[in-house]
Amino acid sequence: MQRRRLMQWGAALALSPWLVRSAQASAAHAMQADAAADMPQAAALGLPRGGELPELVSLPLELKDGALNGCLAAAPLNLPLLPGGKATTFWAYNDSVPGPAIALREGDNLRIRFDNHLPQPTTVHWHGLPIPADQDGNPHDAVAPGASREYRFDLPKGSAGTYWYHPHPHGHTAEQVYRGLAGVFVVRSLDDPLAHLPERWLVLSDLKLDAQGQIAGNSDADKMDGREGQFVLVNGAWQPKLTLGVGERQRWRIWNATSARVLKLALPAHEVWLVGTDGGLIEKPRRIDYLLLPPGARAELAVTGRFAAGKPAGLLALPYARGKMMGPEQDASLPILDIAPSAALKTAALPARLRKIAPLGKPAARRLVVFSEDMANPAAMFLINGKTFDMDRMDFIGRVGAVEEWEIDNRADMDHPFHLHGTQFQVTARHDGKGWKQEPYLAWRDVVNVPPEQKVRLRFRQDLPGPRMFHCHILEHEDAGMMGTLDVRA
Ligand code: C2O
Ligand code: CU
Ligand code: CU
Repeated sequence: MQRRRLMQWGAALALSPWLVRSAQASAAHAMQADAAADMPQAAALGLPRGGELPELVSLPLELKDGALNGCLAAAPLNLPLLPGGKATTFWAYNDSVPGPAIALREGDNLRIRFDNHLPQPTTVHWHGLPIPADQDGNPHDAVAPGASREYRFDLPKGSAGTYWYHPHPHGHTAEQVYRGLAGVFVVRSLDDPLAHLPERWLVLSDLKLDAQGQIAGNSDADKMDGREGQFVLVNGAWQPKLTLGVGERQRWRIWNATSARVLKLALPAHEVWLVGTDGGLIEKPRRIDYLLLPPGARAELAVTGRFAAGKPAGLLALPYARGKMMGPEQDASLPILDIAPSAALKTAALPARLRKIAPLGKPAARRLVVFSEDMANPAAMFLINGKTFDMDRMDFIGRVGAVEEWEIDNRADMDHPFHLHGTQFQVTARHDGKGWKQEPYLAWRDVVNVPPEQKVRLRFRQDLPGPRMFHCHILEHEDAGMMGTLDVRA
């Protein structure tokens, strides 16, 4: 109802953007009330919090014929989440939320047998990895309910980094991920300069429960803004606790596996250095005050326990506005993780140089990718270069081994995090609406947030042929068609 009203206003006032915005804003108020009604308050649900940070389970792998062999099965799973209540039904890989962690080394060869026990078609997409297109879980390669397939690929030298896997079927990605299907994938190098630091892995995900304690469907506001639940979980637990020695230096890997949250993460009481991005280590550690981690992105931090007096000891998501149409913005700090001090420890060294990253050279091709929104057209609301996703259309034809430079231009009203499959890119410059600024350091990424009226320039090379998806990593926008295909030809 509300949505239809919003659409009519949008259509009627299409010639006056300011009026559209304010009409949308008042409709949005009505919808916020609706959304609140279908989403009970966190406190009312009784989800326990404050327990120890759960360790991720790891996927058992067996070495056979030169490959590491493992099995993944996607199936419904009942978890007794809430006290006294009925179990909550998730969809999970190998009965675990998050899915089992896969940790390998450069040069390893992986073979995964996958079984789909879901009522929907699915795929397993290996987000960020430089693997063959036909092994990458493209929407074109769906595994039907009850069916199986094998995924097989090797991890080339230079691929050490922090990745993840999640479903990518056409139109059902958001639902399958928010029901619990996502797991982490770490590739280590043989000469890792940070191997001496103890590691903590933090998978941040969203949980939205209905009044019955079941995973809620997406509201109209979720479909438009991207879903945000009552809970941000870490390794499947709500506001768990991690212990950090006073003076201890740890290496953290953090995944933003939420559908839509742009997380501005901060550790106000501690010393934090950025040491890695999606595709592995950066050249030198960079001291940071916060980390902006858009949905789908990962980072590696070197965190030293300082417990500065008068500052919150835990991990927070600072307020961040992402141009939502419907829902309220995150306007207060959100506690994500508690940190408790343990005994004082000697601070391990942080090397001044981590590795060398060669800048990608002069591009052989330049392309423009424009994000836009058409709120008056519910069938095609989120657009790339004026179009919605079509599996049978190749949007760009590229060449194996050729450097490309893409300009991502966000002419919409919301942040849209850009993601490209099959490779890592280097951001070269960002336009903040006033002018271009060179990117201050080299890093390998596969997701970059693009706020409204801003632009990002990036370069990449695809070393393998085949169709590669690029899309907004707000999963509801991806499902709504904010996706295209780059066909890489030999
Ligand atoms: Cu993590 Cu195409 O997605
Ligand atoms: Cu991906
Ligand atoms: Cu988007």
